[in-house]
Amino acid sequence: MLKLIKSQFKKCCTRCTYNAKKSAKTEIETVKTGFEKYELIEQIGEGGCAKIFLANNIVTNEKCAIKCIETKTEKAKRYLQYEISTMQKMKGIKGVVQMQETFKDDEETTHIVMEHINGWCLQDVVENLQIDERVIATLCKSILKSLQQVHARRIIHRDIKCGNIMLTKDGETKLIDFGYATYCPEGGYVKSGKVGSMFWMAPEIFQKEAYNHKADIWSFGIMVLEMYLGDPPYYGSPKTNETIVTHLAMGDVPIPGGMSSKMQNFVRRCLAYSPDERPNVDELLDDVYLRDTVTIEDIADNINRMFKVTV
Ligand SMILES: Nc1ncnc2c1ncn2[C@@H]1O[C@H](COP(=O)(O)OP(=O)(O)OP(=O)(O)O)[C@@H](O)[C@H]1O
Ligand SMILES: [Mg+2]
Repeated sequence: MLKLIKSQFKKCCTRCTYNAKKSAKTEIETVKTGFEKYELIEQIGEGGCAKIFLANNIVTNEKCAIKCIETKTEKAKRYLQYEISTMQKMKGIKGVVQMQETFKDDEETTHIVMEHINGWCLQDVVENLQIDERVIATLCKSILKSLQQVHARRIIHRDIKCGNIMLTKDGETKLIDFGYATYCPEGGYVKSGKVGSMFWMAPEIFQKEAYNHKADIWSFGIMVLEMYLGDPPYYGSPKTNETIVTHLAMGDVPIPGGMSSKMQNFVRRCLAYSPDERPNVDELLDDVYLRDTVTIEDIADNINRMFKVTV
């Protein structure tokens, strides 16, 4: 794929250089644009219909991440539009990945240029390391502060999970991937088909009912279990997808008995079956479980050290 993108890159560059020469003649435009401006270094991620590359901006000599998204269907084009317009609304939020620009390679590939987050995807961290409850509480607090800003802009993320959280080498969290995000007016609801990732999906979305930002709180609760267990509940279970869906749609989520009662209670609040009984972000931030935390320097030290030893 990297080769493919690089060859696309070369093709595009020839095209861009041609345009630049033409512009130079007419003295209109000599600014570097699109792929002409970036040097791809390596692939750093892959999702449903996107590949993410580490790149160098040759104008500023700064690293960035480029998400290359194929949009073959009308639905994919619509989601991409949401992703870009939502990322524009996220400007200035420290705990959310920042978009720099977008450009098109051809009709079916769009590139989102973002700040490069130097660190790890939280999913890799929880899959490899056993994380202590106090560290989880600290991460929860940091992620909730980002989600608070997202919800304040009336956006529902709809895909909260460890795979969409990055942890920087300084111990900070950043929310990424607004590919499923949508706008929900204050006091309003959204109705759609099933959207998001199955194991984290709120029952009201499963059941195709109207929903609001409380759907993110459910996914957040599942994500807390994912941080504790390494995977979301039912993941890898021999049960069929249909049985799992029925359990989750009924709000039947097992809470590990070894967890402290404070943490159990916190998770149960997030996983209240009725969205009206689920707390909003402000209320969750006041939960007693989040009062016993570590410093972000401790998180950075722990994770840097543990990753060096185990991976
Ligand atoms: N700005 C970034 N800096 C560093 N790494 C990134 C960045 N954006 C994405 N990644 C890496 O790429 C992976 C996939 O990114 P993203 O979640 O945006 O793609 P996606 O296609 O929407 O994924 P999925 O369908 O699995 O949710 C992330 O889990 C992360 O490891
Ligand atoms: Mg993702």
